[in-house]
Amino acid sequence: MREGTVLVTGGVGYIGSHTVVELYSAGYRPIIADNLSNSSPVILEGISKIVGEKPIFERVDCANQKEVEALFINYPNIEYVIHFAAYKAVGESVEKPLLYYRNNLLSLINVLEQLEKRGRGSLIFSSSCTVYGNPDPKDLPIDESAPLRPASSPYGATKQMCEEILKDCAEAPHSKLNAISLRYFNPIGAHPSALIGELPQGEPQNLMPIVTQTATGERERVMVFGDDYNTPDGSCIRDYLAVTDLAKAHLAALKSLESAEERGSIQYFNLGTGRGLSVFEVLNSFMEANSIEIPYTVAPRRAGDVEQVWANPAKANRELKWSADTPLPEIMRSAYRWESRLKELPLKEG
Ligand code: WQD
Repeated sequence: MREGTVLVTGGVGYIGSHTVVELYSAGYRPIIADNLSNSSPVILEGISKIVGEKPIFERVDCANQKEVEALFINYPNIEYVIHFAAYKAVGESVEKPLLYYRNNLLSLINVLEQLEKRGRGSLIFSSSCTVYGNPDPKDLPIDESAPLRPASSPYGATKQMCEEILKDCAEAPHSKLNAISLRYFNPIGAHPSALIGELPQGEPQNLMPIVTQTATGERERVMVFGDDYNTPDGSCIRDYLAVTDLAKAHLAALKSLESAEERGSIQYFNLGTGRGLSVFEVLNSFMEANSIEIPYTVAPRRAGDVEQVWANPAKANRELKWSADTPLPEIMRSAYRWESRLKELPLKEG
């Protein structure tokens, strides 16, 4: 592939950075565009150490049309975009909906406009299982044909809207855009080197960084948000997959787009293990894998939480020849190694 044809927006983020590493391992040298609003130069340094060179990095706010235009002028060979750049905190999106609508929608629109100007291009979109809303238990495990129910947060609504924008652009008359929307379930863990991993800015919302911060003593205990759900042990169920496996799915999607014959199409893939885990099961597997005790207390339910959702990944297994098969204990150990290393790092401001 010609130099500088793959752009990764949000490439210093959690999933973006692991995807950049995966691309390098397959011989690509992607351009990373990130405004570092929810990441840190620590991650860029980590990528450099893993891939053995300083990656091509441009500090760009993708919601800024002029900055995105300048980026595409500076890199005239961009043909494939893996688009991660977006805000993703469910709770924050409820408090600041406009921030989410402006940033998440404009970032995608600005990139699509540039691809349209080129007259061709392919885009892999970082979507989410939140597009399914609160699924009916009869729809579990969720496959791509499941109905999109009302999103449970503005964050989820932006993912649904971005998928609509992508679909309309890909299927417009004479469109030359090919798109793949990857619907992530719950990525966890870190690169085995512990040089990159999840680096929540401020208070983490997600379960795993809260577990690992409790393990390293940063936090006193984990609050389990509800044990009175209609699930086997009463706690919520999710489909947790290794972020490194999720990164591999992006490489598989890129390969699929490179070999695409027709133009003007969009495809959707659910990326999960196909196995649901409850909050208590996550806690127990973390404790077992790391031979450590994690103090926890049952707390009231968290507003907006989906009771149970896990993927049917058969379509991605079949069509992308991809599966999330890193063993859970290995994922739990990678998460703890990363958090332990983070504790030693003087975190530089982004
Ligand atoms: C998981 C479970 C909580 C914290 C995530 C991402 C969101 C989107 C969808 C990608 C829930 C419970 C959590 C805690 C707890 N991902 N929990 N105590 O809500 O599935 O959303 O996936 O687009 O961006 O946030 O993940 O990790 O917040 O919660 O009991 O301190 O853990 O109730 O059942 P969620 P989560």
